[in-house]
Amino acid sequence: MQRFLTAGLRRLASPAFLAAALFAMGAGVAHAQAPASAPAQDDPAPPAVSAPAATQQGGIRSANIFEIAPDASTDPKYSEQTNAERGRVQPGNNAPMWRDVAKGVTGYSSLPDPEAGNMIQGFVQYPGSTVTNAGEAWRQVRNNWIIPYGGSLLLIAVLAVALFYMAKGTIELHGSETGRKIERFTYVERAAHWVNAIAFVTLAISGIVMAFGKFFLLPVIGSTLFGWLAYALKNVHNFVGPAFVVSLVIVFLVFVRDNLPSKEDITWLLKGGGLFGGQEVPSHRFNAGEKVLFWVGVFLLGAIVAGSGVFLDKIVPAVEYTRANMQVAHMLHASAGVLMMAMFIGHIYMGTLGMRGAYGAMKTGYVDETWAKEHHELWYDDIKAGKIPAQRTAATPAAADTPRTA
Ligand code: HEM
Repeated sequence: MQRFLTAGLRRLASPAFLAAALFAMGAGVAHAQAPASAPAQDDPAPPAVSAPAATQQGGIRSANIFEIAPDASTDPKYSEQTNAERGRVQPGNNAPMWRDVAKGVTGYSSLPDPEAGNMIQGFVQYPGSTVTNAGEAWRQVRNNWIIPYGGSLLLIAVLAVALFYMAKGTIELHGSETGRKIERFTYVERAAHWVNAIAFVTLAISGIVMAFGKFFLLPVIGSTLFGWLAYALKNVHNFVGPAFVVSLVIVFLVFVRDNLPSKEDITWLLKGGGLFGGQEVPSHRFNAGEKVLFWVGVFLLGAIVAGSGVFLDKIVPAVEYTRANMQVAHMLHASAGVLMMAMFIGHIYMGTLGMRGAYGAMKTGYVDETWAKEHHELWYDDIKAGKIPAQRTAATPAAADTPRTA
């Protein structure tokens, strides 16, 4: 009986059987499209072994190597076998190959230059990984650090914003509006900002689905739909990325001047902008909080995300797209991307729910004088003193109706 089982299992795991089973699975797909009673003319003859059992049970199945050849290890040359030799006596046992991997043997691959002949990368230690071959080290960094801590950071950012909203609500104007308007953002500034914002949100959503989707979407929509969705969003991500990079550069150039540091920023930062107390701390056109977002979020993290992103897109000329370079680019991209999203969750909150009139400023370009005085008093004072024009773009017929301060 045992001999019968052993022979059966050996046959189940034999390459010929696997080929037959895979072929039968392919035929099974074809059958699924054709009526069951009318098999296609050129269907293969039924395999010698009972294929339906494997097909019904979902194709390739694992095999217990100890049952396949329990006596194989008694061969005196057992420990010197190559992977191919081991595969013949114990199909599925790849121990010789993994032993080589652990020793740092690079193996053979048909990859093009500069990686020709190198299947298994050499040993490295990426920050947060053990000393192991680079592919595994990258996997450890992604799965043990970026995914759990990055995901937690995003959830914490959403929670913090929700708690802040529950505690403080929308920041309203204290005084009443005058009806006199100041041009806060020109058409070019708004266009650059919104192109950038739309690209950012698209990249954020597609990035989140790719990185974290298997935890919250896969169980809900199933693997087929999730596979297609992730595949589609990956392509969306690859194509929207360059648009984000271009608009990010324009946003940087357009806003850099008014984000240069000033001495009043120190007071603003020390007092937390007055956000947690009563009185808002006076600021120029952009307050220190916005400047931190600009230099850390837009400039620093933006440069890392954009640089590593175009590298991963393989559109940078004259660089080597080795696996090691791609791994480093990916770790930088994912880490900076998560930090950037966490920062911009705060920005998006302040620009929408958090402060009355902020969204309108970026939508229409104009704010009321009272808004300017309460939220950016030093900027308002400069406008009143005539140092900064209240209307920067040439007056259009629509804008001409808009009351001015100066
Ligand atoms: C849905 C997403 C977004 C919304 C709703 C939003 C909203 C706003 C609003 C209302 C303002 C005006 C704030 C003020 O008047 O002081 C603003 C300013 C600004 N936004 Fe956004 N924004 C979004 C995404 C982004 C993104 C993705 C970036 C860049 C990566 C960005 C960069 C800026 C910059 C540079 C400013 C000028 C103020 C500063 O320099 O900090 N925004 N945003």
